[in-house]
Amino acid sequence: MTTTRGEFSGNLGFILAAAGSAIGLGNIWRFPYAVGEGGGGAFVLIYLAFVLGIGLPVMLTELAVGRTTGRNPVGALRQLAPNTPWRLVGSLGVVTGFAILAFYSVVAGWMLGYLGKALTGGLSSAVDAESSQLVFESLVENPWMGLLLAGIFIALTVFVVRRGISGGIERITTILMPVLLLLLVVLAVRSLFLPNAGAGLAYLFKPDFAAVNFTVVMQALGQALFSLSLGMGAMITYGSYVQRTQNLWKAGISVAMFDTFIAILAGLVIFPALFYANADPSGGPGLVFVVLPTIFNSMPAGSIVAILFFVLMTIAALTSTIALLEVVVAYFVDEKGWTRGMASMVIGAACFVLAVPSALSTGAVSWLGTGGLFQWDFLSLNNNIWGNYSLSIGAILICIFAGWQWGIPKLVESLSEGRDGGFPLPAPTMLGFLVKVICPIAVLIALFFIILTGNYF
Ligand code: TRP
Repeated sequence: MTTTRGEFSGNLGFILAAAGSAIGLGNIWRFPYAVGEGGGGAFVLIYLAFVLGIGLPVMLTELAVGRTTGRNPVGALRQLAPNTPWRLVGSLGVVTGFAILAFYSVVAGWMLGYLGKALTGGLSSAVDAESSQLVFESLVENPWMGLLLAGIFIALTVFVVRRGISGGIERITTILMPVLLLLLVVLAVRSLFLPNAGAGLAYLFKPDFAAVNFTVVMQALGQALFSLSLGMGAMITYGSYVQRTQNLWKAGISVAMFDTFIAILAGLVIFPALFYANADPSGGPGLVFVVLPTIFNSMPAGSIVAILFFVLMTIAALTSTIALLEVVVAYFVDEKGWTRGMASMVIGAACFVLAVPSALSTGAVSWLGTGGLFQWDFLSLNNNIWGNYSLSIGAILICIFAGWQWGIPKLVESLSEGRDGGFPLPAPTMLGFLVKVICPIAVLIALFFIILTGNYF
């Protein structure tokens, strides 16, 4: 492996960085409202099944493709299938990473904005649904603020990525991920001691299958792909920096488990708080920004809880934007010979330009959005196109590629490389069946469903 590209110094560093990519707004913002809209515990069970049966195989496949080739998504597919159009799957991934970064950093910027408000007492006027909505609107409808915050967020991301893998990404994620875990545990304990916390727990864990329909099932699948950062080569890219001596199979399982654990932990923070405040658990995307601040205001030590919560959200978002930028940077470094420093700055700047319409679409410029938040604005449009369609298409194609073109034996061989004794090997027949048949078909059904019904998040 070339040292000029960089690599993760150890297994833990890789696991924390990859988990940092996976753990993001998807876990703490999107997962709870998906649970709320999907009827609670039943959604959680279906989600877990998808993580195991679909998410994990796709995750392992991406990691193996990355480590085998030591390349970005485009270079990786070109190397494994020279002179075929398969490299276009990598190109789609790179474009998707860029596009997701452009809207993700707008929402991440709001988290930063809320952190600022929490620190300066700006959330104290959010005492009920209406006043809280006003606080939110004053942020997202302010064009300069939205742009400034997204810009700061992208700049922070560039600052880390330009320092490379072990000196930048690994170093910062090994500090931030333990902090994130600690904050979540503290917040979960606080939540569990609220009156009526039991009702929140029952909602999260007691499956009510009456609430489940086809939409809910498909959303659980989409959420699993998004949350594990699959379908766009992010795990190919991170996998390309893993040393051959490391146990990729074990690391992949750890990342998927870590991500799922954090989503459940976020549920333990949010649902007891919702039930304590008699709030509607199916509150939708506004849950974190509109519902939670009023709850924080009503609970003892709530202002501290609010600060911790938005620090947590900022960290979760930052370790994800780092991975998104890294996918694009790796492409320009490997394929175009750019230096890492130049690639991160130029792409960061370009991304900011694309973030502008998203930042202005939530109320500042009327023709970019309906004004109704998360209805049909440029930001949500991008979320749908890139965060739903493109990831699904990418996941299907990566599975077909690995299962039918590259071949399961090579996949299993790559996963077993560096395996330390004691940890059982992947069962090739089972993994092959999942990657070749189940994953592409399940995701294809989900994709058709999304397109036919227009039912996304
Ligand atoms: N998994 C991230 C989250 O849960 C979102 C995401 C999707 C992502 N694809 C990605 C992050 C690729 C980094 C790289 O918020």
